[in-house]
Order: sequence, then C-alpha cells, then structure tokens
Amino acid sequence: MSVDKDKLLRDLIKRYRQTHKKSEALFKKASQLQIKGGSHNLRLFTPFPFYDVHSSGSTVTDIDGNTYIDFWQGHFGNILGHNPRIVVEALTDWFQKGQGLATGFPGNLQMELAELILKQIGTDKIRFTTSGTLSTMYATMLARAFTKRELVMKVGGGWHGAQPFALKGITAFRNGLNQMESAGLFPEHDSSIIITTFNDSEDLKEKFKKFGERIACLIIEPFIGAGGFIFAKREYLEKVRELTHQYEAVLIFDEVVSGFRFHAGGVQSIYGIKPDLSVFGKAIGGGMPLSAVAGKNELMELCNPDIESDRNVKFEGGTYSAHPATMLAGVTFIKYLIKHEKEIYPKIGRLGAKVRKEIEEIFSTYGFQVKCTGGDNTVTENSSVVGVHFTKEKVAQINYPEEAWNPGICDFQLREKIFKLSMLNEGFHVFHGYGAISTAHTEEEIQASLDAVERIAKKWTKYRL
Ligand SMILES: Cc1ncc(COP(=O)(O)O)c(C=O)c1O
Repeated sequence: MSVDKDKLLRDLIKRYRQTHKKSEALFKKASQLQIKGGSHNLRLFTPFPFYDVHSSGSTVTDIDGNTYIDFWQGHFGNILGHNPRIVVEALTDWFQKGQGLATGFPGNLQMELAELILKQIGTDKIRFTTSGTLSTMYATMLARAFTKRELVMKVGGGWHGAQPFALKGITAFRNGLNQMESAGLFPEHDSSIIITTFNDSEDLKEKFKKFGERIACLIIEPFIGAGGFIFAKREYLEKVRELTHQYEAVLIFDEVVSGFRFHAGGVQSIYGIKPDLSVFGKAIGGGMPLSAVAGKNELMELCNPDIESDRNVKFEGGTYSAHPATMLAGVTFIKYLIKHEKEIYPKIGRLGAKVRKEIEEIFSTYGFQVKCTGGDNTVTENSSVVGVHFTKEKVAQINYPEEAWNPGICDFQLREKIFKLSMLNEGFHVFHGYGAISTAHTEEEIQASLDAVERIAKKWTKYRL
C-alpha cells in the first residue's frame, strides 16, 4: 500500500515540533555553531534531533522532558542498556580515588582486557585505539603492508567508518553500491577499492579471478550492520575464507557491530570461521571510546617498531589510546557479559525474534509489506537486532545491502523519516527501523513498542493514496 508521504511527514513534524520546543531552540543555536547542529550525521534526523539526553537503562529523556524507550542504545553497543550500574560504579569509585583520567602510561587493566578478548576470540595479539574507524584503517594498512599488495576489497553496503580505504560503495545507490562517497581523497582510491556483493559467492569468485593477485585484503562484516542488519550466509562466509586463502589475501572481519552482540565474543566463533585480523569497537568499551585490532602474530608484529622491516606499519600514537577509564569500563563490561552470557543472550535474542516476527505481521494486517532483518536461525537464535524494511513488493528475504538501498525495492524515506518520527511521537526511539534490544528492556516495553507499531500502521491507512 502506498501512502501520501508528504502529508504524513508534515503532520508528524507538526506534532514533533509541539513537544520539542526546547530542542528546536537548541537546534537553531547549534546549527549556527556546527554543521547541521551536531557532529555525527546519523544522529541529526529530520526535522531536528532532541537534545541533552539523560539516559538510564532502556530509556532516554530529553530537555523537553519527553521520555523514550530507546532502541538505538549508544549506536547498538549498550547491551546492558544505558549507564549500567556495574560500569558506573566501577568508574565512580575510581574517579573518587583520584584516578581514571589520562595518564599516558600503560596499566594492568590493558593487559586484563587484552587477555579477556584474545581468549574469547582465540587469536594471538591485540592493540587498542579509540574508534572503529581508526581500527579498520590500521587493519587495512597491516594487510597491505603484509601482502605488499595494493587493492582493498570490501562489500557494497559495508560501513567501516569514514577512513580512506573504505569510503566507496556504502549507501549511494546508482545501479548498485559502487561509488566513491567522499571528496578529498587521492584519485587512486577509486580504482584501489574493489566492491563485491555481500552473500554473492559467484561475484566474489569473479572478482578474485580478475584482481586476485593484487588484492591485499577483504574487509567484511560477517553480520552487516548499517548495510541492512544481514547475516552472511554460512556457505558464503566459507567461500570468503577459502578464496582469501587461495589468493593469499588477508581476511579482516569487522566485528564493530557484531562483536559481543550475539554472544560474549565475535560472531566469527559462531560460524567457526577464523579471519586473519578482527576489528572490535562499540561494546568492548562498555560505553567508552575504545576499539581494537586483534589477529595473528605475523600480521600484528608489523606494528612493532623494533622489528627491522620494510613492512612496518605506523599503527601507533593516539593520545587517548587505551585510556585508563576506557579500559576499566571495558574490563568491567566484558567480564560481566562473559559471566552472564547464558542469561543475557537467549533473553534478548528471544525478544528480537518476537519483534521481527510481529512487526511483519502487524504491517501485513494493515496492507503494508515489511521485511524485518537481523535474524537468521541458521547462524544464531540469539539475535537481538531488528532492521525494518518497507518493501515495494513482498520479498522472502533481504540478502544483501544492494536490496536494502535500492529505492526500487525498499522505501528508505518511509523507514528513516516517517516510521522513525511516527515511533518518536509514540515515545520510542528507533534506528534502522527498530534497532537493538538490551537486557534493560522489559517484556512490557517490548510489547508496548509493538502496540505502538500497530497504532502507527492503522493510522497510516488513513493516508492511503
Ligand atoms: C561495522 C562498523 N565498522 C566500523 C565502524 C566505525 O566505528 P566508529 O564509529 O567507532 O569509528 C562502525 C560504526 O558504526 C561500524 O558499524
């Protein structure tokens, strides 16, 4: 069913503005000081974001006093909800003891976190830095130095942060996802980044056949996040491993989203497929800015300045790398996830499955075609993420980001502007259609979110074209 989106959006914006007067005033001021009124484009939704959030558990409350059940949860990293007590108490205690801010020295906690993560994913060495973006950049540099090759292969729709080796084929759909998406780069970047289609073994084979000898690495999210919340098919990921071995290219798993989201470790162990390098971010910092590259000795060694080699990689520096408070938050959080793994993941996974199923059913009852992504029981039953795609036709599955971003298949505006604002006006903050469930969300809150979806679907029928 199609709806009058312009009218619907106008009505939703009108209502949102009535309840967000202080945020609107702040947005006007912020826009004079910052581009679009903020520093991260995804947070700056239409018509303007709400500001000065106070958050706790499953909820956030804005400056106007509106409280939302939040499924964005700090870019999906807050598996225990906002400001979990264990992390806040550990940090408070430390700060009260006069510790926690940057010292510029290494510490015990760094070792503790390194040990925890290495054990969970079963690899040799780890180095910490501050953002997923930096980590994917360093991992790519390690791969290019190790292989002495030039080309970087990534999948269309893969998001690895705004770093030069990955700024192609992200969201701009022009008969596929294969455009450079940033100015300001070297012209060679375009020809140095090869795009392959996620979950398409034939395309992968072809690209390796054509460029194989020149490919330094394949960087891939085994569970693709921003590209549509899609798991790699097991056979595809096996092919990924087989071909990277065959062509001696480094396999980098970007687990910034999937790391510690489906169990207390990387999704790689669920598949039983080992990459050469892994990148972690988001959850490993327990709410603080932390990321890591982990992998085999022979690759990680390249950032050791003591090794005489023309392959040394300057994966170093970073005033705030392994910041003490970040390490404490990370250790506290990861230890908790490991200890409570058996309670946490089945619980949030069950809720994820319920939401994915029921959102599709609700919309279908009211004549809308919706496909929810984020689940795949052939990989794991414990998926707590939900992507919502409003499809033009009924689709059985969304297999790759080119489908999610193709305006001929999925209505992005309906999801990101209209459904998002509809949910906000009902008291729910969703992302990519819904988002990520945390242990702080109660069954009642999840049910309330589904009741809101039902009210919305019903309301939309009044805007039928
Ligand atoms: C899969 C993936 N890799 C890398 C990044 C970049 O991480 P950061 O935003 O911490 O720089 C993101 C961020 O969302 C991501 O989703």
